[in-house]
Amino acid sequence: MNILLFGKTGQVGWELQRSLAPLGNVIALDVHSTDYCGDFSNPEGIAATVRTIKPDVIVNAAAHTAVDKAESEPDFAQLLNATSVEAIAKEASRIDAWVVHYSTDYVFPGNGDKPWHEDDATSPLNVYGQTKLDGEKALQKHCLKHLIFRTSWVYAGKGNNFAKTMLRLAKERSELSVINDQFGAPTGAELLADCTAHAIRVAMNKPEVAGLYHLVASGTTTWHDYAALVFDEARKAGIELALNKLNAVETTAFPTPAIRPNNSRLNTLKFQHRFDLVLPEWEIGVKRMLAELFTAQSI
Ligand SMILES: NC(=O)c1ccc[n+]([C@@H]2O[C@H](COP(=O)([O-])OP(=O)(O)OC[C@H]3O[C@@H](n4cnc5c(N)ncnc54)[C@H](OP(=O)(O)O)[C@@H]3O)[C@@H](O)[C@H]2O)c1
Repeated sequence: MNILLFGKTGQVGWELQRSLAPLGNVIALDVHSTDYCGDFSNPEGIAATVRTIKPDVIVNAAAHTAVDKAESEPDFAQLLNATSVEAIAKEASRIDAWVVHYSTDYVFPGNGDKPWHEDDATSPLNVYGQTKLDGEKALQKHCLKHLIFRTSWVYAGKGNNFAKTMLRLAKERSELSVINDQFGAPTGAELLADCTAHAIRVAMNKPEVAGLYHLVASGTTTWHDYAALVFDEARKAGIELALNKLNAVETTAFPTPAIRPNNSRLNTLKFQHRFDLVLPEWEIGVKRMLAELFTAQSI
């Protein structure tokens, strides 16, 4: 099986390079690739890449993910998150390839406290969410053989993440304020990549699984409680923190260009049933990422 992976250096793309490897021949591209175009600001180039490689499966982990920046460059965000996705979908359909794509809970209005179902009404609060929704719709319209995974609060060991930022601040400051009225599930890029590989295997034998799924770790937390867990784990690992006061504040304490949803909870029962998988509690992945981080720091 030939697999074309876009966005290989992102959080999820990096883990996909690992998890897709046992499935077949992976051609992995990013924005800087020279053999083939992997630049999503060039939809014609992306279409040409699909036409030339003729993969069996395309996995798209590339996206405009700078949520606040998207507010001031909506056309660019649309180009990356929707126009290039449409180009992939049309080419994939011509060669009968599968397309695996990621979307976000930001397609929802973010109110209430119930976990969103796949068929709940969408109503994005910001440009990023709207462009991601447009990308979903383009893929659904032009390529029936698709798997779309809406996820949230993605972290990875590689690069920057919320936990690393909190740790850095907690070493420098005695007091921190963290938002406590946004609810979601921190979801590891590793988990997303492993679930994706499994889902592709299932889809190869059961094409009827094509569709839209919510895919996040189990359980719910807030950024405040997530930070508290990070500090607990750090202290248990013997890491010295200057922090002695952690305040819980509302979203309004930190105004941002893009409005954030309060309710990022996603109901994942459809994914778990259809693919016969269990999604672990969010703390398991976060503690594992922290353990690796603390070990690396002690070397
Ligand atoms: N991160 C989250 O919390 C989150 C939440 C919900 C859904 N998602 C979705 O999950 C998927 C994977 O996200 P992620 O967390 O892995 O994001 P990420 O780490 O920001 O990865 C996105 C990748 O896209 C690349 N990219 C940017 N501009 C590009 C262009 N013009 N052409 C090609 N590639 C370009 C980025 O490269 P550079 O780094 O060089 O810019 C990066 O490697 C995305 O579809 C995202 O919308 C993410």
